[in-house]
Amino acid sequence: MNDLPGTLKYIQYEHGLEERYLPAIRSLIAGDLSEPYSIYVYRYFLCQWGHLCFMALDPADASLIGVIICKLEVHSSHSPPTRRGYIAMLAVASPYRGKGIATALVKKAIDAMAQRKADEIVLETEETNVPAMRLYERLGFLRSKKLHRYYLNGNSAYRLVLLLKSIDPDALIEDSEE
Ligand SMILES: CC(C)(COP(=O)(O)OP(=O)(O)OC[C@H]1O[C@@H](n2cnc3c(N)ncnc32)[C@H](O)[C@@H]1OP(=O)(O)O)[C@@H](O)C(=O)NCCC(=O)NCCS
Repeated sequence: MNDLPGTLKYIQYEHGLEERYLPAIRSLIAGDLSEPYSIYVYRYFLCQWGHLCFMALDPADASLIGVIICKLEVHSSHSPPTRRGYIAMLAVASPYRGKGIATALVKKAIDAMAQRKADEIVLETEETNVPAMRLYERLGFLRSKKLHRYYLNGNSAYRLVLLLKSIDPDALIEDSEE
């Protein structure tokens, strides 16, 4: 565990891995969620955008240490249409935090979405989530909107955006209420 994150194995999710890793993904994410997700939420993302899900595995036993789950959609209300990436879930097992694993996962997700010509990548995170805010802002994400009492637990959130292409920032914010 000393040389993390370099010694970890990072793999892209694929459908053949569902039986092995979906229970571990659910339990890793459920441990820290602001609100619970059903199995259908995980399947919604993983069946359509498994190529935008990355896992960090312990090389010794291939157990799950971290995961990021994303999607990429076209928003045709913009002119021209915007390709928007969305980071839906990110978690690293607590004994492994603070070692750059989430940073490595987010970078892989950004690269994958950039390769698929995303114009922007957005996400929401609780305003009190200092590690997540630090991580995303260090990678260039900007606060686009404060979402008051956004979560079921009453906590507020920030919507963060990473602009990959030059687009009208006002259009991003107006279209952010989905
Ligand atoms: C957020 C989370 C994914 C970060 O994972 P990680 O692997 O520890 O992240 P990294 O090591 O890549 O970077 C974390 C950053 O937060 C900092 N950090 C970690 N714990 C911190 C704390 N308690 N207070 C302040 N900063 C903290 C780290 O120093 C690092 O920033 P730096 O590189 O500028 O020093 C992890 O804490 C987690 O799984 N949390 C629960 C789920 C969650 O909140 N997900 C995000 C939802 S958007």
